[in-house]
Amino acid sequence: MPFPPTRPLPSDDAPLTVLGIESSCDETAASVVRLDRAGAWVLSDVIASQVAEHAPYGGVVPEIAARAHLRVISPVVREAVLAGGGWDSIDAVAVTAGPGLIGALLVGLQAGKAIALARGLPLVGVNHLVGHLLAPFTRVQGEEHAQPIFPFIALLASGGHTALYRCDDAATIRELGATRDDAAGEAFDKVAKMLGLGYPGGPVIDRLAAQGDPEAVTFPQAMRGRSLEFSFSGLKTSVAQHLAKHGQPADEKALRDLAAGVQRAIVETLVRKLLLAAQLEGVPRVVLGGGVAANRGLRARAAEACARAGVTLVVPPTRVCTDNAAMIAYAGAVSLRRGRLDGAGLDARATWPVDAGLSRNAPAR
Ligand code: KG4
Ligand code: ZN
Repeated sequence: MPFPPTRPLPSDDAPLTVLGIESSCDETAASVVRLDRAGAWVLSDVIASQVAEHAPYGGVVPEIAARAHLRVISPVVREAVLAGGGWDSIDAVAVTAGPGLIGALLVGLQAGKAIALARGLPLVGVNHLVGHLLAPFTRVQGEEHAQPIFPFIALLASGGHTALYRCDDAATIRELGATRDDAAGEAFDKVAKMLGLGYPGGPVIDRLAAQGDPEAVTFPQAMRGRSLEFSFSGLKTSVAQHLAKHGQPADEKALRDLAAGVQRAIVETLVRKLLLAAQLEGVPRVVLGGGVAANRGLRARAAEACARAGVTLVVPPTRVCTDNAAMIAYAGAVSLRRGRLDGAGLDARATWPVDAGLSRNAPAR
């Protein structure tokens, strides 16, 4: 049952200001976004990262994540609202309802519901993946970055997800292929853990790889055919076998070479499948997203391969690629404009396919 909002949405030609809340994994985030004819303007964007709390374990611990969200959700939301123009400027609340860690999602969901109920505002549940796919359309005043043009192919590669999507418009998104096991970011993190490099592993491996020789140690690339699915768990096994045989890298050069070999295997797979998807779909525009899109090797290789193939590449700023609540506010605004409204029954979902993201109602009990 939708909450009966006491404040109706502004009419379609008036600006719509949405408070977005995100708590699906290890980032507690809140943001105010104003949608007007000129674009989706990020008025505030607050993120509290839990990386330090998960670092000792080499990955995200769901129970720790949920408790950490609970500790900071109120101040994070308050800061975003105050920096974004104050409570009276908010027209609606958008909150991530999945996919993600259930205990973590529930914290943001309850906060969103409480705010919507207390202030009589419309509430909408957002698919986190749809948020990532629409994130490149969010803009900060004064920041210039290329906006994708529909239709486009998106590669979303993060710690929790790795998949290719065809995006025809904000409400018509189709998954073309996803990982069968580990996500690309997870592969970086697990390899880094084996090498004692700390968490998160992606940025460290990226830095080491820049000075290493990717030909010195090579690792197999899984699913080499014309499949758009990925598999990264074999890479982790190959690295474990390499370490069992040769031991931990003896010096900095050996470590850099190993990092370069691992990064090469991941990046080549991602770029090859991204271009294959563009070719198979006949769509010459591609977009990178997710935390792994920060990888310098991936950015450089994608730019080079796209230029050669005559494909337009959009690589948004890192702020847009990693988890944030501006993307949730924007995706929520698009949903609300399309008539979606959720209520007290809005529930958290561990899995939630994107093609049900904007076109169908969020999960309800
Ligand atoms: O999107 P994100 O911030 O959070 C989610 O997982 O949703 O992505 C985090 C992931 C981690 O696995 C991290 O190791 C990876 O992105 N990452 C990178 C780089 N920066 C972050 N992976 C490769 N190279 C990087 N420079
Ligand atoms: Zn994410």
